[in-house]
Amino acid sequence: MNEVLHAVKDFLISESALHGPLVPLEPPKTFAQKIMDLVDDAHPVCEMKSLDDLQRYVQTSILTPIDQDRTLPVFGDGNPQATIMLIGEAPGADEDKTGSPFVGRAGQLLDKMLAAIDLSRQDIYITNILKSRPPKNRDPNPDEVAAHLPVLYRQLSLIAPEIILCLGRVSGQTILETASPLNQLRGQIHGYHGASLIVTYHPAALLRNSTWKRPTWEDLKLLRELYLSQ
Ligand code: URA
Repeated sequence: MNEVLHAVKDFLISESALHGPLVPLEPPKTFAQKIMDLVDDAHPVCEMKSLDDLQRYVQTSILTPIDQDRTLPVFGDGNPQATIMLIGEAPGADEDKTGSPFVGRAGQLLDKMLAAIDLSRQDIYITNILKSRPPKNRDPNPDEVAAHLPVLYRQLSLIAPEIILCLGRVSGQTILETASPLNQLRGQIHGYHGASLIVTYHPAALLRNSTWKRPTWEDLKLLRELYLSQ
């Protein structure tokens, strides 16, 4: 028996000389863990165990100056069990008044876009990069994005969608951490910490320029294929 043990020991020593020491394999990180790696461990959102807790935190916190000027924060809406999550840019005037995302003209167009691929608000969860309306609907500034992004990351980690649709340049660039223009980001499936991510035009942009409707339709078909292949 001793000889067998010695032989095994010698084998392991020679193997570790070839391939490095034998260490127990760590289980692979989940999507939720990878997303929370993007947030500072000391950030209050790390303590939030549910979407309700997180929503209360957003309602009662001033994270950046525009939070002081909002009528209502717009946290997010839809089905928290959904496998698809949509991420827009920031609330507009209608959303600021109601506290719900995508309820104005852009939201109505979004509902039609979803219906065209047999989806409804019950099939998705929808939120924005910013939870407060920027004055005069200007683009979010980097400080505002940095202040609100941990909330979005916590939403992502709690919902753990398999498919993410970023609506518009600001959303796509922020989530993918890139400065690439939207026409380079759209039309493809990006890997995002184990989830699949598509970027397309923002419905408000489609209301301004209808030539973007065709490429948006291509992106929506891609989303539908992904959804059906799950
Ligand atoms: N535009 C957005 O990006 N989000 C909304 O909630 C409304 C309009």
